[in-house]
Amino acid sequence: MGYVTFVGMKLPDRIQVNIDPDAEVKLLDVAGNHGIPLPCDCMQGHCGSCAVKVAPLFSAPQMTRLSLRERYFLLRAGKISAAQYQNEYFPDHPPLWRLACEYQITDEKIMVAF
Ligand code: FES
Repeated sequence: MGYVTFVGMKLPDRIQVNIDPDAEVKLLDVAGNHGIPLPCDCMQGHCGSCAVKVAPLFSAPQMTRLSLRERYFLLRAGKISAAQYQNEYFPDHPPLWRLACEYQITDEKIMVAF
């Protein structure tokens, strides 16, 4: 089972949430279901306001896929490089920044800072 640890200025302390790997949930939904106030305006991958820093914890490298829409907004926001934008798959090191409304959580152990 994976989990997400949220850290942020608007939180009194770290909050850890367990993730069912079969649930197919987005990071923004996980946060919303637990009252964690991640920034978001559109909830549909159109604005880029939900960009958060994501760091893997205790996980082996795994293949990560970012949608074109996610890469586009991360590039526009200066969160990924043009070279990263060209890659759909990141076999070892996913980008530090992700869009919470586009990020599909799997069986991962991650820390999210916002
Ligand atoms: S909330 Fe707008 S891109 Fe995620």
